[in-house]
Formats: sequence, C-alpha cells, structure tokens
Amino acid sequence: MLNLNIEAAKTAANFINSKFNVEIPTTAIILGSGLGTFTQKVQVLQSIPYAEIPGFPASNVVGHKACLSLAQLDNGKTVIVLEGRFHYYEGIPTSQVVLPVTVLHFLGVKNLIVSNAAGGANKNFAVGDLMIIDDQINFTGNNPLIGHNDSELGPRFVDMSEPYSFELIELAKNIATKINLSPKQGTYLSVSGPTYETRAEVRAFAALGADAIGMSTVYEVIVANYFKMQVLGISCITNMATGIATTKHDHSEVVNAANRVADNFGNWVKLIAEQI
Ligand code: HPA
Repeated sequence: MLNLNIEAAKTAANFINSKFNVEIPTTAIILGSGLGTFTQKVQVLQSIPYAEIPGFPASNVVGHKACLSLAQLDNGKTVIVLEGRFHYYEGIPTSQVVLPVTVLHFLGVKNLIVSNAAGGANKNFAVGDLMIIDDQINFTGNNPLIGHNDSELGPRFVDMSEPYSFELIELAKNIATKINLSPKQGTYLSVSGPTYETRAEVRAFAALGADAIGMSTVYEVIVANYFKMQVLGISCITNMATGIATTKHDHSEVVNAANRVADNFGNWVKLIAEQI
C-alpha cells in the first residue's frame, strides 16, 4: 500500500484549483486549536469548507473551524490558510491526517507554517508563551511514510536533520524582536493522544529533551520534509504539562489560553508570512 494518498490528494488539489481560479500561493499556514482568529487579521478572499473538498475526512474537534481559505496579507501577498487539522487520535489513518499537506504539495506550496496548542514540559515556560519549534520528537509510535514509497515523489529514507527551516526560524526571531515579542524556542514532542500525559510521562519526555508536548504536527512536518517544503512551527503553550501544572487538564483551558495569545500569534505570523 502506498504511504500517502496520492490520487485523493491530486483530486482535491484539482478541485481547489478550479474553485480558486487564481495563481495558488506558495506559502500555507495550518492553524492549531484556538488560533483560528488569525483569519480576522487578513483579508479572506475565498474559503472552502473541508466538507466540500473531495477526500477530506470528517473531523469534529472543538476549537477548529475546518476550512481552507485563500487570504491576502497587508503587503498584497496571498497565502493559503487551513483552519483546523486531522488528528491521529480521532482514528483517522495517517495518510488522511497528512492529506492536507499532500494536497498543498500538489498545489505547489513550498513554505509551510504549522501551529499548535501544546503543554509546556520545560519548567521555564509559562502558559501563554509562544514557542518557535526548532526540532521534534515523534513519540506517536507511527510514521506517515510507512508503506510503499513512490521514489518519483520523494526518497524512501527522508533526511530529518532540519525538519524546521533554520532560515525561517531566524526570520521568525527577527520579526518577533521588532514587535517586542519574546518567543521561547525548543523541541516539540508529539504523543498520539487522546489522553493527556501522566506525571511520569512528562518527566520522561522532559528528560528526553521535550520542551512542549502535543498531539499533532509531527506527521505533517515529516511529510512536508518528504516533499522538501521549508517548515516553520509555532507552539502556543496553553497549559503546563501534567505534574508541572497545578490543576487538572480540560480542553476548554487549552482553547481559552490559545484564544488569549491569538492576537500576538496572528500579528507575528502575518508579518512572517509577508516576508517568506
Ligand atoms: N499534552 C498534550 N497535548 C496538548 C497539551 C498537553 O498538555 N496541551 C495542549 N495539547
């Protein structure tokens, strides 16, 4: 079996191309839980609900709007914005979790900004921090590239020495300084979810080098690297991870915290996207 759903991705890309009927931008942004207000800061030119895109799985996570938009930034540049993503913990196969990124490849996208809500495993972090992801640990026990590989599309063994573009990390840092933001920087570790971690798991993951823990993103970044996209990742620390946090977890806490930093996140990402 092919690891990626190439035929479905081509069909979806053709559909999006025919709907937008303009030159497709080369930069795309995937918005994580609670970060959807980004679209209020840009001029949305056209929007397609995921439900209308052939092959896109049905998904129902609170805090996600589920549509793909063409948006214009203040400097006139256009970007594709994906509000909401598909998660492995929903029972969705990895090929479907990464379908949007596969579709972006067939649309000609070269730069991908991914964002997510994450729990802080680094004790120097605080709720409301934004973290530039500079590396990742895939602790899900799966990999979206398992299966037959079509070598016309990408290599069997994918180099992951720069999963997040060093150049884009520098750009993000420089822009943050200009707008008085002090983002953290660190390693994002993904579990499959849907359970939050135990105290022992958080201690173990922190010892492994995790600064932030989430349930998404790593598969998308693996596939983006397979397709040789330049990736920038930003985590919004919506809660401290289990054992560091003083209270129990609740998804509404995650969405509320993301909503509180969405303004800073949006201003920053908009300026970054303008300069990519
Ligand atoms: N753990 C895993 N995923 C998360 C968390 C967390 O603490 N917060 C937001 N997503």
